Amino acid sequence: METYATLAGRYDQWNLSVAGQFQQDVVLAEVGGLAGRTVLDVGCGTGFYSRLWAAQGADRVVGVDLSAEMIAIAKSVPGEIEYLLGDATRGAQDGRFDLVTAMWLVNHAETRADLDAMLKGFAVAGDDLLLVTANADADWNVLSTQDRRFGVQQHPNGPAVDGRQPYEATIFYDGGSFSFQSGSWATDVLIEGLHAAGYDTVRRIAATGRDVPTELADRPPFMILRAS
Ligand SMILES: C[S@@+](CC[C@H](N)C(=O)[O-])C[C@H]1O[C@@H](n2cnc3c(N)ncnc32)[C@H](O)[C@@H]1O
Repeated sequence: METYATLAGRYDQWNLSVAGQFQQDVVLAEVGGLAGRTVLDVGCGTGFYSRLWAAQGADRVVGVDLSAEMIAIAKSVPGEIEYLLGDATRGAQDGRFDLVTAMWLVNHAETRADLDAMLKGFAVAGDDLLLVTANADADWNVLSTQDRRFGVQQHPNGPAVDGRQPYEATIFYDGGSFSFQSGSWATDVLIEGLHAAGYDTVRRIAATGRDVPTELADRPPFMILRAS
């Protein structure tokens, strides 16, 4: 298994995969245009979604990530986006934003304390949150055997602790694959945590839209929540 320090240059193979593009379509349909809005992208990685927010017309986009290697890749793409090194368990970022996004970040919170700290940091940074993470309600038998052409398989690899099931994610692409450690928080833990952080409303966004194989549409590897 690898860490972001070594896989940073290949990470976007996930975002470009069939499942990753499916996720992107659902997310963009949910978020819509961002003209006049400010966006904080926490756990921004290579900036793939930060750039999408800018392309949606956002006035200002700030991306924050723990990994210097991911931030270096994000910064190598010309544009107006501000990228910062930061740990989301210690607060998301100074200031208030119209939209806070956390795409595949909370799956890296290994304890409830870290999860709650992240969720609280999001709420402090803004009232409108889009959160994408592992689909806790999908069947592991499906997630671990999904067609490699979709781009990802998720294999549970340890006992669930405190509502988090650890798993190994493997990303497949033309010419290779890479694996990294992640974790799937139970949906009710996430929803309760979001309410405890201060959000009144939490909605689950249905994964529909793109014409994808039924196997993927019915059991997507991702879950999308919108909190306000
Ligand atoms: C699965 S990647 C997702 C990257 C990006 N959001 C995307 O969807 O393309 C998770 C990212 O979260 C970052 N990360 C993990 N723990 C973090 C923390 N405590 N604070 C900030 N970023 C963190 C990792 O460095 C990595 O770039």
